[in-house]
Amino acid sequence: MSSILLVTASPRPNSFSTQIAIELAELLLTSNAAGTLVRRDLAANPLPHMDSGFATAIHKPAEAFSAAEAAAIRLSDELVAEVLAADTLVIGTAFINFNITSNLKSWIDYIGRAGKTFRYTPSGPEGLAKGKKAYVVLASGGIYSHGSGIALDHATPYLKSVLALVGITDVEVIRIEGVNRGSDGAANAVNTARAQVARIAA
Ligand SMILES: Cc1cc2nc3c(=O)[nH]c(=O)nc-3n(C[C@H](O)[C@H](O)[C@H](O)COP(=O)(O)O)c2cc1C
Repeated sequence: MSSILLVTASPRPNSFSTQIAIELAELLLTSNAAGTLVRRDLAANPLPHMDSGFATAIHKPAEAFSAAEAAAIRLSDELVAEVLAADTLVIGTAFINFNITSNLKSWIDYIGRAGKTFRYTPSGPEGLAKGKKAYVVLASGGIYSHGSGIALDHATPYLKSVLALVGITDVEVIRIEGVNRGSDGAANAVNTARAQVARIAA
């Protein structure tokens, strides 16, 4: 039995990251006949940005919540539950201005919850969502896996840091990179990513 949480975040129609993330999740599901797939489509259903309701509620007991605070915590609890229930996360994002999409950042703000997905200990934070595997599917116009682009990739190290905070350290990145490089850049990038996906699913 395997539970897959598929989070997609590109606002672009015909997004490469969304397409490849879906393909990966479906292949993983096929290899786990008893598995389940939960989809969180952040482009179709964007989350609200963190507001004062959420920022204040996380420091209050539930009995003291206003209606807005209670609603923000309910949303966060729902997103946290999806993460905790999953064995595998597949996260697809466009590379936007050297980082992840803003709607994926909102998702992170709701799932990075002290006492829920990590806790503070005398020796530092400890993740509470351990034992999971995460795949990050990242589509970019340019090349960031090697050369001078590495220093400009704020998406991959950031996502790895956030996933590590909640206890997920087994992370594989699938890049669809260089889609804007030349007339066959997108086709080459998608083929390379599909080959990696096929290796993962094999
Ligand atoms: C507003 C915007 C900002 C972008 N910023 C970058 C960038 O900083 N670096 C880059 O290589 N590509 C950038 N791109 C190109 C996207 O990464 C590229 O179109 C990619 O395919 C998007 O992922 P998707 O296909 O999953 O939507 C940007 C695209 C948009 C629309």
